[in-house]
Amino acid sequence: MCGIVGYVGYRSVPELLLEGLHRLEYRGYDSAGIAVLGDRDIEIRKKAGRVNHLAELVRTKPVTGRVGIGHTRWATHGATTDQNSHPHVGGNGDVVIVHNGVIENYDVLRKQLTQLGYVFRSQTDTEVAAHLLSHHLEEQIRLGGEPGDVETCLKAVYATLDRLKGTYGLGILFRECPDTLIAARCGSPLVVGVGKDEYFLASDASPLVGYTKDVVYLSDHEIAVLQPGNLRIEHRSRGSVSPSVQTLEQVASDTDLGQYEHYMLKEIYEQPQTIENALRGRLDGEEATAVIGGLNLTAKELRRIDRIVLTACGTSWHSGLVGEYVLEEFARMPTEVEYASELRYRNPPMSDRTLVFAITQSGETADTLAAMRECKRKGHPTLAICNVVGSTIAREADGGIYLHAGPEIGVASTKAFTSQVTVLTLLALYLGRMRHMSYPAGKRIIGQLRDMPEKISKALECHAQVKDVAERYHHFNNFLYLGRLYNFPVALEGALKLKEISYIHAEGYPAAEMKHGPIALVDQQTPSVFVVPRGGIYPKVVSNMEEIRARRGPIIAIACEGDTDIARIADDVIYVPDVEEYLQPLVCAIPLQLLAYHIALHRGCNVDRPRNLAKSVTVE
Ligand code: F6R
Repeated sequence: MCGIVGYVGYRSVPELLLEGLHRLEYRGYDSAGIAVLGDRDIEIRKKAGRVNHLAELVRTKPVTGRVGIGHTRWATHGATTDQNSHPHVGGNGDVVIVHNGVIENYDVLRKQLTQLGYVFRSQTDTEVAAHLLSHHLEEQIRLGGEPGDVETCLKAVYATLDRLKGTYGLGILFRECPDTLIAARCGSPLVVGVGKDEYFLASDASPLVGYTKDVVYLSDHEIAVLQPGNLRIEHRSRGSVSPSVQTLEQVASDTDLGQYEHYMLKEIYEQPQTIENALRGRLDGEEATAVIGGLNLTAKELRRIDRIVLTACGTSWHSGLVGEYVLEEFARMPTEVEYASELRYRNPPMSDRTLVFAITQSGETADTLAAMRECKRKGHPTLAICNVVGSTIAREADGGIYLHAGPEIGVASTKAFTSQVTVLTLLALYLGRMRHMSYPAGKRIIGQLRDMPEKISKALECHAQVKDVAERYHHFNNFLYLGRLYNFPVALEGALKLKEISYIHAEGYPAAEMKHGPIALVDQQTPSVFVVPRGGIYPKVVSNMEEIRARRGPIIAIACEGDTDIARIADDVIYVPDVEEYLQPLVCAIPLQLLAYHIALHRGCNVDRPRNLAKSVTVE
């Protein structure tokens, strides 16, 4: 989703902003721009399209200055055009802003500002905030404020924010206020990088890597004033805030492509390592349980819990569904997985013994954050299963479990899914051993979890086979993905991967449910991908395959190595290592991720930056 970068200091501002925008590209965007405050004016360069197009524009029409802001836009209000790209100018050019989020009352404000004579050059909600800020700046000047005085500018910012409804992360330049960048946050993340005589602003830490390790995460309703050698933070109602400087763990090599052509492929291949990271230090063979340090709940408090609600979006919701199955099986804990976008507006009965987990790779998904806050408001302990350290959800949760998967840059989530499933399994083991699970059962699970990094490496050996299947199936326009029990969420995830990066219509279903409707879609042009490793109801899934075959639907099966019977029914079989049923989502996800990747490549799609999608969905 939209990205912000800003800088004040001694370096070459345009280069720094462009580099920051390149690093934010993974979030998803459709246009980009920068504004630099020079000696006399604020110069803007902006363009629909890629950051490279903007860089070319800056090369032909250079800008200079010591302070600047940049933006990658993911369109919400108004088409993808040069005019709608950020930065946006307020009034006669006295203020320039970049904005992430959505101004919900923009329509009313736009009418009011139009009546006051402000002329709109774009269809965006952001331009409303720019003009409003200019309006309040003029007001402050009329009241005696100096245009170049930071206090005058701040008062105008406060007055503007008082009138905005919705979400924002803002970066602001004032034409008359030299060497000053003002930032404000409500609902859209912002982080300040602290250097020596320089400060950075960004919507996530990636533009800061290699420049500084010291960061300050802004909280909602905070305003930051960045000037060389001076950082000042205020809360809109509580006044001055002393900045809490944290250390960034990310290193530059985390975001290198290395030998891989795409981040998605790199991240698929990282999974033996990321699963190992998720397990590291968390397996206690002596006690036959998991070690989970950050829940911030005592054993007594945890034993009181009689229900778990998992809330998430997209792929993280799919891992939550695996979590529901494993928590119920291992810990006999009634568990539900809720779409965060629904939960935030529903009011389901939840007793004070309900524990809530928000599952999120980015830690910034707007719906997941809102659902988590809603549960917190009602007094439930809310924890996070999160990848990005320092993200809003990680900071606002009462505690939680980090994935330690490293930055996930490919828009389609891969390694985060398998890490989430691993962590949820650890949680189920931990709670299970606190309740009903026997010592030998716990021991067995620990042994099986220990083997997983190796099993995932083995699963990756299916790559050549998957490539071959992709070659033969990439021209189909509709796919069904079918699985049962633990493999139903995997079917959903496989279908999501295919549709988001190859734009092919795909539906995931519980395999036996397809008789109740989707089977009507089956014909020679609609392949079904069956996730059918051996397990308790394997013969039932095989019967479901027979039903598809009887209707002449092509079948691709994901099956356990050594299962030769399946080849008699399926047209193509991709083999994965044999593991316990609760671990099958981990090994079966691998061929489905690779299949989506190769089909997308065949169709000429941009696998790392699929159209219309954003890596971190910070709007509702
Ligand atoms: C799919 C995908 C999305 C995310 C969803 C939630 O590949 O990446 O469906 O899973 O937007 O994102 P997080 O986990 O960051 O909350």
